[in-house]
Amino acid sequence: MNKIIISLKKEQCPVYVDYPLSMLGYLLKKHPCGEKVIVITDENAGRLFSEDVVNSLKGAAKKIKVSTIKPGESSKTINVAYNLLKECSLFNMERSDVIVGLGGGVICDLAGFVSSIYLRGIRFISIPTTLLAQVDASIGGKTAINLPWGKNLVGAFHQPFFVLMDFSTLKTLPDREVSQGMAEIIKSAVIRSSKLFNYLKKIDASKVRNYLRYLVPECVMIKKRVVERDEKEEKGIREILNFGHTLGHAIEINSKRLNHGESVSVGMVGETFFAFKKGICSYSTYENVRFLVKKYRLPTRSDVSAEMAAKSILFDKKTKCGKCRFVLPVRIGAVKTGVEITPNEIISNWEKWNE
Ligand SMILES: NC(=O)c1ccc[n+]([C@@H]2O[C@H](COP(=O)([O-])OP(=O)(O)OC[C@H]3O[C@@H](n4cnc5c(N)ncnc54)[C@H](O)[C@@H]3O)[C@@H](O)[C@H]2O)c1
Ligand SMILES: [Zn+2]
Repeated sequence: MNKIIISLKKEQCPVYVDYPLSMLGYLLKKHPCGEKVIVITDENAGRLFSEDVVNSLKGAAKKIKVSTIKPGESSKTINVAYNLLKECSLFNMERSDVIVGLGGGVICDLAGFVSSIYLRGIRFISIPTTLLAQVDASIGGKTAINLPWGKNLVGAFHQPFFVLMDFSTLKTLPDREVSQGMAEIIKSAVIRSSKLFNYLKKIDASKVRNYLRYLVPECVMIKKRVVERDEKEEKGIREILNFGHTLGHAIEINSKRLNHGESVSVGMVGETFFAFKKGICSYSTYENVRFLVKKYRLPTRSDVSAEMAAKSILFDKKTKCGKCRFVLPVRIGAVKTGVEITPNEIISNWEKWNE
């Protein structure tokens, strides 16, 4: 068990790594707050873990309610958020009470968002149960819901009261979900840690579940260091976390078969190729990124055309005056932000790496 503290300007966010769910009640008592708790979860995580969570809370909270939503990205909407706000209100939740988010990144974002706006913000405990949520979504205080025409367009910064990660929850995670998490782990390595990158090169990819105890805290530490320096994404530091995502999001929106992690994998390979073409990194850096993505059985190519991806990139939040700003690797472990790439450059290089 390992406690990592994220130190922010106005608050501290403890991340309890490798703590059993059964310790939730004990931890809640250590961080005094109100008497009511709403656990927001989805049907999958709820079925697997809500009983343990509620049992653990029994010694620490007087009233406990579980709100279960449908799993998946389609629940990150204003309507689902509204229903959850209504449930909080009908349960007479007060400012000192707590919302627990139990599930993957969708729950982190949605339950975090509801916590950030209910009564102008109440305490939020995050219990991430997917690899992607443990290495990324639960850390850093970004919460969000989608609008019908774009992802994460509504949200707030709201740091969790604390985060509890129980590695045993990952045992039930399907392999494809583990791979999505691996894509974000590779991203963390490329942007900040050649040590982690070399470790990923060395270990047996078919036994990756055995190495999560090391990989998850490494990624939490990488994100912690970035978020502590640029909590609200104002200084241009936090944007390094978008490596692979500018191209990745454009692929994800248009692809018929690739999920987020898979799209980001293609995005990382493509963006590293752009970096090589622009003379920002060496060809061997490109080869290394491509090798690692392939090693973890993640895709290096997509079913999306260059034209479709370039068009979507124009709608990216980071696009200014028809030029999109990319985060590109300089070498493994270091990136450069704000590199402008035009839609034409994207289109003319597409076939060279998307093969
Ligand atoms: N806020 C951030 O900083 C941040 C960062 C990265 C991603 N995100 C968001 O995270 C979301 C993606 O997260 P995700 O990949 O975890 O998706 P998800 O929450 O939809 O979870 C994936 C699937 O796994 C199921 N599941 C959850 N835990 C399980 C377990 N232990 N065993 C079996 N099944 C389980 C879920 O019910 C779901 O069906 C996206 O909405 C993305 O925008 C946010
Ligand atoms: Zn991502």
